Amino acid sequence: MNWYNEAEYIRKQAEKNNEFFANSLPMIASENVLSPLCREMLISDFHGRYAEGTPGHRYYEGCNIFDLVEEKAMELAKKLFNCSYADVRPTAGTTANIAILKALMKPGETATVLDLANGAHISFGKWGGAGVRGINLVSYPFNDEEMNIDVDGAVKLIKQVKPKLALNGRSVFLFPSPIKELAEAAHDVGAYLVYDAAHVLGLIGGKQFQDPLREGADVMSGSTHKTLPGPQGGMIVSDHKGDTDEDKSFLRKLGFGVFPGVTSSYHLHHVAAKAIAYAEHLEFGEAYAKQTIKNAQRLGQALHEQGFSVFAEKLGFTQSHQILLEIGPGKGKEASKLLEGAGIVTNMNTIPGDTDPLNPSGLRLGTPELTRIGMKESAMDQIAEFYQRVLLKKETPQKIKEDIKEFRKDYQTLHYCFKEGFRGYDYHTLV
Ligand SMILES: Cc1ncc(COP(=O)(O)O)c(C=O)c1O
Repeated sequence: MNWYNEAEYIRKQAEKNNEFFANSLPMIASENVLSPLCREMLISDFHGRYAEGTPGHRYYEGCNIFDLVEEKAMELAKKLFNCSYADVRPTAGTTANIAILKALMKPGETATVLDLANGAHISFGKWGGAGVRGINLVSYPFNDEEMNIDVDGAVKLIKQVKPKLALNGRSVFLFPSPIKELAEAAHDVGAYLVYDAAHVLGLIGGKQFQDPLREGADVMSGSTHKTLPGPQGGMIVSDHKGDTDEDKSFLRKLGFGVFPGVTSSYHLHHVAAKAIAYAEHLEFGEAYAKQTIKNAQRLGQALHEQGFSVFAEKLGFTQSHQILLEIGPGKGKEASKLLEGAGIVTNMNTIPGDTDPLNPSGLRLGTPELTRIGMKESAMDQIAEFYQRVLLKKETPQKIKEDIKEFRKDYQTLHYCFKEGFRGYDYHTLV
């Protein structure tokens, strides 16, 4: 066996993957592309190092320079989210969520959540993080028409159940959650409100979505690679000041939940890349988030006009980076496969009323990556036409794929990031 050939095989697949995504329409709502400066950090020497603990309090030597990086990352995160506490160590949004559950709950205690069918994420679900921690879950009622938590029902539920944590985590996240009301109810019964901003972190940092920490959330977690276009990773922020013994203990527990709770080394190269992503978002985040939302709203309108059933028409389809399409009972997977064949990358998704996550009836579409490569509203009109050709006219996918490749030629440059010189950077080539 020539093992080098096996390594070459993997490199070849990476090249092919780069090429595929450079010629397609990447529309997974949770995905994005990394800026050249962030990318540099991923191949820096930080990659090979360990730094357990916090800056200045390490279990390993050789961390003096990294300490400066982590301190800067925390400083920039606090600036971006206008808060007093930031932990940039979680290696994923899921890790951040499990750290919070570990810090603030004990097995057997109760948390209130959203149901998976109504757009929740598995990290706060029975089969995911909440199950790992042995948490008892009680679901909020949901308003299908408004695609949101039924606020009166949820407040009543929190008052009845008296959970330890009131959670808000949403993978289908079209409209802001009623955080002020939920937080008030939670605080009345001595619970904390946890806002999982995995999807909308970049919209919040760009000041174009609700501001959970100002609305009463005690802690906010998030992924650093979705609407916040940084490296794969997670983070936790809070505006608690630690000015009473109880509050100090709350923050200490949060930190302890992350390390030693759910991390050992925490991927130092990603922490360095997160710091750069925060700086880029402080510079460009507002414009980027604004355009991402405008694009999603226009895409909703254009697909509606093409004859698709788009959720929340009366509310303008969305106030985030996502829209949700109803395709037909159990038809989501078939539709996403057809689109993929034509070079449009999306995902099947449950919609309210679905019970089988493997055969859902909807598609979730996102605009974060399309916006990063420079698309504006008029491009959304053209994309809606591609959807109509694939799913309604049932044209041959191969022909549409070629048209999309042609369409993508105008969109090969990354925007909303530093380094003018890198603006022409052909992001699909290997580093
Ligand atoms: C609401 C929500 N929370 C958490 C996560 C998990 O994030 P990660 O993939 O960074 O672990 C996701 C992923 O899409 C999500 O949608």
